[in-house]
Amino acid sequence: MVARSRWHHAALLRRWRAWLVTLCALTIAVVALAGGPPQVTVYPERGPCLADAATMRRDHPKMLHEQKHRTVVLGERGARVQLAQCVSCHAGAQSHSVVASERDFCRACHDYVAVKLDCFHCHQGTLGTQSAWRSGEGR
Ligand code: HEC
Ligand code: HEC
Ligand code: HEC
Repeated sequence: MVARSRWHHAALLRRWRAWLVTLCALTIAVVALAGGPPQVTVYPERGPCLADAATMRRDHPKMLHEQKHRTVVLGERGARVQLAQCVSCHAGAQSHSVVASERDFCRACHDYVAVKLDCFHCHQGTLGTQSAWRSGEGR
């Protein structure tokens, strides 16, 4: 009876140890993920962004919303901030899109931060065959 309970105790300890190891691994994984947004692919050869990466990460929602207002409500033309330009630089090399695949620029980050992106029902998120990279028009 004593022997059996000692065995039982050892088995429980082993199980606890396995649990603790799993828990540590999970904690490390969660901390690593919380450390920052996913790595998004950028293509510097297509040209520089409207601002540095940190500014873009912080300000792109405001930039887009303000420009939308200026264009749609105030009728401004030839804007510097245009979704088509974002797409031309940020579309994936294979998908030609910022939203088609899970790894595409806008979608990868937005899925991760769980912020819905309701722009590409109307706006083109994928380059058409007629579209050109800004740095290589007519190619
Ligand atoms: C001419 C090309 C070009 C255009 C146009 C452009 N980008 Fe960029 N974008 C880049 C490049 C290159 C980087 C990487 C810059 C760096 O790492 O310093 C970048 C970085 C970013 C980042 C930060 C990504 C990260 O986490 O590292 C965001 C967000 C972003 N762009 C959003 C936009 C949006 C929104 C638009 C349209 C309003 C836009 N970009 C237009 C080329 C462009
Ligand atoms: C590196 C991560 C990242 C990338 C890449 C990124 N976004 Fe965002 N975006 C965010 C985060 C985080 C928010 C919410 C934060 C906030 O509202 O300030 C946001 C908010 C937005 C909003 C406002 C949403 C709303 O409901 O008001 C728009 C519009 C937007 N992003 C468009 C884009 C577009 C278009 C692209 C691709 C060209 C893009 N984002 C790429 C992280 C990203
Ligand atoms: C119901 C359709 C619709 C939706 C959804 C929509 N837009 Fe637009 N957007 C338009 C139209 C139409 C224009 C005006 C185009 C023009 O006059 O050239 C426009 C213009 C813009 C412009 C001005 C410059 C440009 O890119 O052409 C911006 C910036 C913009 N929208 C951002 C957004 C963002 C960001 C979202 C998502 C949060 C969004 N829009 C969702 C229809 C839409």
